[in-house]
Amino acid sequence: MESIWSRTWKAETRPSLEKHIQADVAVIGGGMAGILTAWQLKQAGVKTVVLEAERIGGGQTKNTTAKITAQHGLFCYQWIEKKGEETARKYVKANQEAVEEYKRIIREQKIDCDFRISDAYVYSADVEQLKKEVEAAQKLGVSATLERELEIPVSGCGAVRFPVQAQFHPLKFITALARQLCVYEHTPVTKVKEHLAETAGGSVRADKIVLATHFPFINFPGMYFTRMHQERSYVLALEGAGKLKGMYIGAGKEDFSFRSYDRYILLGGEAHRSGENQEGGEYAALIESAKKMFPQSTVAACWSNQDCMTTDQIPFIGQYAEKYPYWFVATGFQKWGMSSSMVAARLLRDLLCGRKNEYAEIFAPSRFSAEEIPNLLKEGGKAVKGLTKRFFSLPHKTIAALEPGQGAIVETPQGKAGVYKTKTGEIHQVNPVCPHLGCALSWNPEEHSWDCPCHGSRFDGEGKWLNGPAQEGITRE
Ligand code: FES
Repeated sequence: MESIWSRTWKAETRPSLEKHIQADVAVIGGGMAGILTAWQLKQAGVKTVVLEAERIGGGQTKNTTAKITAQHGLFCYQWIEKKGEETARKYVKANQEAVEEYKRIIREQKIDCDFRISDAYVYSADVEQLKKEVEAAQKLGVSATLERELEIPVSGCGAVRFPVQAQFHPLKFITALARQLCVYEHTPVTKVKEHLAETAGGSVRADKIVLATHFPFINFPGMYFTRMHQERSYVLALEGAGKLKGMYIGAGKEDFSFRSYDRYILLGGEAHRSGENQEGGEYAALIESAKKMFPQSTVAACWSNQDCMTTDQIPFIGQYAEKYPYWFVATGFQKWGMSSSMVAARLLRDLLCGRKNEYAEIFAPSRFSAEEIPNLLKEGGKAVKGLTKRFFSLPHKTIAALEPGQGAIVETPQGKAGVYKTKTGEIHQVNPVCPHLGCALSWNPEEHSWDCPCHGSRFDGEGKWLNGPAQEGITRE
């Protein structure tokens, strides 16, 4: 399950931290947001160190579809109605400036990263909705147009077009920028205490600390887990499916994402909340759709991604919590990690350098609006469900009945356990309880992992940590 980006790019390795050092800023997380933030800070003359738990771009960055766009679904008319014109305008402007900043950096730094200017489209069969969106986007300053003829195989649909957006190879780009930075790989931060970021081999003492770890792993203060959940989605690289000029995404939850890369069309879809896999499998469903849309194509690669979704659809970028004015955060990028990472990098640079930034307020983690309340209640309900499931769900399988290559909660002589039977029949038992806040884990038959429905932590079949906010693996029994 390796993405097309990982398959086509191998970056040089960086050392891990084995000493105690000092810096102006320590950035925790070497994904797109962390590397861009460190790079922007370096341009501003700030001595910055990046601590990455695994490899640069090795988390969600390697699994993105890598569309760089300010078009985040059909949001303009809805946001004007719900959040007001001023917020909607600033959000679009911040993201459009992020697109322009990618263009500038790639041009000025001469980065070879398969960068291509491309229009972005959101398609839908609801033409009235599309018309409303075009009008709203134009009101917000975007030269959006309504298109009736589309190059993708979706019948009866039109689309809203945002011109002159972009796409690239994210790992080629991030590696090129990281070469200019002080980055330690395979250096997970185990603890942050005031100005000190501790790792197994050393520590960094910094005036300011940025948490750019996809989902923040510090629970208190901040409590980001009450305001975010994670969603998984799936991507196929289709060979023999032709080429697309534009980048597309459907307006509906069941719709698809399309873009070209090299000789492939990248088809994305089948999104769901982490820990809630559908019967029959997401890859199988996506392959079925691919066969209908591109009957001549073959699947060259498939992979999945995980996104942090906030309760008001706006990322959290800014001061981490009132108690620690020198901690900062960038998270909750919804499905738009490329443009949001650049928005975060520029905003954090300004905040850390004491400069004014017109977008600070709309992304501030301390914001709160009544609009969030229904989603906050929903998140709370999901957490309670995840916790109670741990105590009241009954295992309905035995180890003997498990198919090779599958896992389940089973009854063992020692009690309830999570068991994974490998293809060769090897048995791995884990405690199927999430070390983050104790929710019951679900088996993910697609990825052979244990996933948490509460906030999206994941562990492989043997219990090894894959994704936060949990910071450790699940105990083997
Ligand atoms: Fe929070 Fe599992 S991720 S309880």
